[in-house]
Amino acid sequence: MFKEISTLTRSEAEAELKALATRLIELDTAYHQCDAPLVSDAEYDALRRRNEALEAAFPDLIQENSLSQRVGAPIADGFQKVVHTQPMLSLDNVFSEEEVIDFMDKIRRFLGFSSTTDIDMVAEPKIDGLSFSAVYEKGRFVVGSTRGDGTVGEDITENLRTLSELPQILKDGDSLFDSAPAMIDIRGEVYMSKRDFFDLNRAQEGRHKRTFANPRNAAAGSLRQLNPKITAERHLQLFAYACGSVQQPTWTTHWEFLEQLKKWGFPVNPEIRLCHTVQEMMSFYNEMRDKRADLPYDIDGVVYKVNHLDLQQRLGFIARSPRWATAHKFPAEQATTRLNQIRIQVGRTGALTPVADVEPVNIGGVVVRHATLHNADEIERKDIREGDTVVIQRAGDVIPQIVRVVPDKRPTDSQAFIFPSVCPVCGSHAVREGDEAIIFCTGGLICPAQAMERLKHFVSKSALDIEGLGSKNIDTFFRMGWLHNPIDIFTLEQNHALELLSLEGWGQKSASKLFEAIEQARTCPLPRFIYALGIREVGEATARLLAEHFGSWLAFETAMHEQDAAEKLMEIEGIGPIMAEDITAFFAEPHNQELLTHLLPHLTIQSVDKTDHKTTALTGKSLVFTGTLSHLTRAEAKSKALAAGAKVVSSVSPKTTYVVAGAEAGSKLKQAEKYGITILDENEFLELLDAP
Ligand code: IVH
Repeated sequence: MFKEISTLTRSEAEAELKALATRLIELDTAYHQCDAPLVSDAEYDALRRRNEALEAAFPDLIQENSLSQRVGAPIADGFQKVVHTQPMLSLDNVFSEEEVIDFMDKIRRFLGFSSTTDIDMVAEPKIDGLSFSAVYEKGRFVVGSTRGDGTVGEDITENLRTLSELPQILKDGDSLFDSAPAMIDIRGEVYMSKRDFFDLNRAQEGRHKRTFANPRNAAAGSLRQLNPKITAERHLQLFAYACGSVQQPTWTTHWEFLEQLKKWGFPVNPEIRLCHTVQEMMSFYNEMRDKRADLPYDIDGVVYKVNHLDLQQRLGFIARSPRWATAHKFPAEQATTRLNQIRIQVGRTGALTPVADVEPVNIGGVVVRHATLHNADEIERKDIREGDTVVIQRAGDVIPQIVRVVPDKRPTDSQAFIFPSVCPVCGSHAVREGDEAIIFCTGGLICPAQAMERLKHFVSKSALDIEGLGSKNIDTFFRMGWLHNPIDIFTLEQNHALELLSLEGWGQKSASKLFEAIEQARTCPLPRFIYALGIREVGEATARLLAEHFGSWLAFETAMHEQDAAEKLMEIEGIGPIMAEDITAFFAEPHNQELLTHLLPHLTIQSVDKTDHKTTALTGKSLVFTGTLSHLTRAEAKSKALAAGAKVVSSVSPKTTYVVAGAEAGSKLKQAEKYGITILDENEFLELLDAP
């Protein structure tokens, strides 16, 4: 057992801190590098906590190699910053053979070479992942970071350490550290394989968690975790392909550098090729494009790099990209299909948005049924008509778009699309505001589409998050005449409970569940409430800014009714004149004032503690702990939950949001299962603590 800290002498404390620093590094290395933990997690955590407590009591004795100094110790609002040894640059893009020829000509001209001189180029696949920098000192991995803004990145040292493919030590054959420079900054791409991405999403779905749009987002979400344990659970891979600062390199070409990387144990993409002519570069590009779908990871093009480092040196950089490298991007994936119908959607702000319903078509592995048409001008400019055959494209995670019409396939009786001059839902006039491209329904509160969209927004996940009041139920309750505005939600039980039971598909159980969810939503954190109001331009981030600035609903509302409301808003960093006008206009509108007067008595709006700006996924949720946790003590877990704005209660009721179950959980776990409450394990709980 540890000695009581208050009884320690300085030299005893120092000796213990020294021993702890070495021991913790040893345990960390065994855990992450060798996948062979030497002690239980609980024991490791106890040592870490002892280290923290000793450091708090003897701050001047903190050891240079202490874990607290190495770890990008999670700070409240994110990661520690790391200044890159050399800026992490981006690449220029080319899209055609002509542009590749042009790129090579420019290089030759810059270097004063004749137009027929061949220049050795290394061609590599362009991995669609997340770039990283890993700094090694005397052959040991010391600091890892993300690209950030190119000059300053985020410290993800501990997260990178959990990637089994990243060498912790640069060892070339038997020669231990001889081949490693005193310092080298190795760069590359962290990615998630397509297979691991599908598996992760399936697991996330099973746990009712957020899924990721593509492998790149999944890799980013997994790497940028404040808790490295979560990174460790996700299967992330990497390819190394560049270097920042290096002391005394032993190579003179990029190709030799890649060979050295392999010897040190870095994964280097096996597809890389040394090319001498544009023809060879183009063959590489075409082969990669054809092979793309079969590769286990996503690529979005190829990269060409001048092989000789002395030439790279001479070529240097323009703005933020090297002159000696470029990315040859693949075109967005396209397919041809029939446009069946142009549908007009009415959003919560009254904007009329045209949507194309197309004959379902597979584009690069994703079945596309709808495409955005943006606005009336776009339809006119591209002369898009119902019944047309259209070329549709999908790039990354953007909404599919219609590129063009195939004129030869246009039916003979086709007619130009006429954008409606009235709202298709309420029949009010539809007008343009100023010279905006968007056409708005003028129906305001009488437009059922707007009212319904506002209700859907009000109960959505990031707003009041009322489970059971999904899109379908809102549609039904709206048509029944039970639900017109947010106030009706809170009088639904009182006014329509009996009728609800007589509706098809509803029973006592489902009705109680819905009313229970509504009950829970009566207590709402301020940022979510502000977001729920659906003020134009006010998204989640702005709502959070407002809540953190004003602290309470009372303070916010009072300020918004004062003469200088707009000026007060513009004092907040991130709020400009347009947003300020939209917010003050919302409060000046009598309908909104009336709505608020009747809505507020139904709610308890939780103020934001101005000293703790963090709202997490647990804010406002009620939590029960059961069983033994392995990484945290119960007291620690409870204090973390409270700090995240959750309520911690001792017994499970239908009102409980989450039950966090450790080992040997008993009756509370059973009760949770009975009530259908989401059960979290310890890691999932930790993940939620960090989730925004
Ligand atoms: S070299 C100075 N090589 O593409 C040049 N980048 O658009 C440094 N990328 O930020 C980059 N695969 O994240 C290089 N084989 C590869 C790459 C690659 C993917 C990414 C990288 C970079 C971005 C530039």
